[in-house]
Amino acid sequence: MGTVAEPDPVDRFRERYAQSPGEVARRVERAVLGHAVGLNGFTTVAQAETLCDFLPLTAGGRLLEVGCGHGWPGFHVAQRRACDLVGSDIPLDALRDAKANAGVRRLGARAVFVAADGRALPFRSAVFDAVVHADTFC
Ligand SMILES: C[S@@+](CC[C@H](N)C(=O)[O-])C[C@H]1O[C@@H](n2cnc3c(N)ncnc32)[C@H](O)[C@@H]1O
Repeated sequence: MGTVAEPDPVDRFRERYAQSPGEVARRVERAVLGHAVGLNGFTTVAQAETLCDFLPLTAGGRLLEVGCGHGWPGFHVAQRRACDLVGSDIPLDALRDAKANAGVRRLGARAVFVAADGRALPFRSAVFDAVVHADTFC
């Protein structure tokens, strides 16, 4: 008996990000989380708040989020801690929406998003004060 190959998880997300989330998805998110943030994982607002308290970030510091999807929870942490954010993911559709979400939250030039594989990040060492990933390698 043969085995069925698992689809590449990034391909799965590429398909998902190519479609805009419908109103029903937004309503579910609002009901479960309290507000619609473009979530694609399981990190609640309360958990994102815990990250804000826990991460060693100061105003003007630099946070890297790997597998940022639509920017959650990175933009939340960056806004709360007044730090810079570099979000990275692979599907370009996700990065485009992440940039838009960061704009809505007035992060402006403090948030940049790069297409990069978390297994081979194109950054020099010791340039970030903290690194987060939320449900990235699942
Ligand atoms: C469950 S989603 C979580 C997205 C976002 N952090 C959230 O909580 O809404 C997982 C994300 O990890 C990304 N991802 C998976 N493998 C990756 C890899 N090797 N490098 C970068 N991103 C990856 C996917 O593209 C997807 O956006």
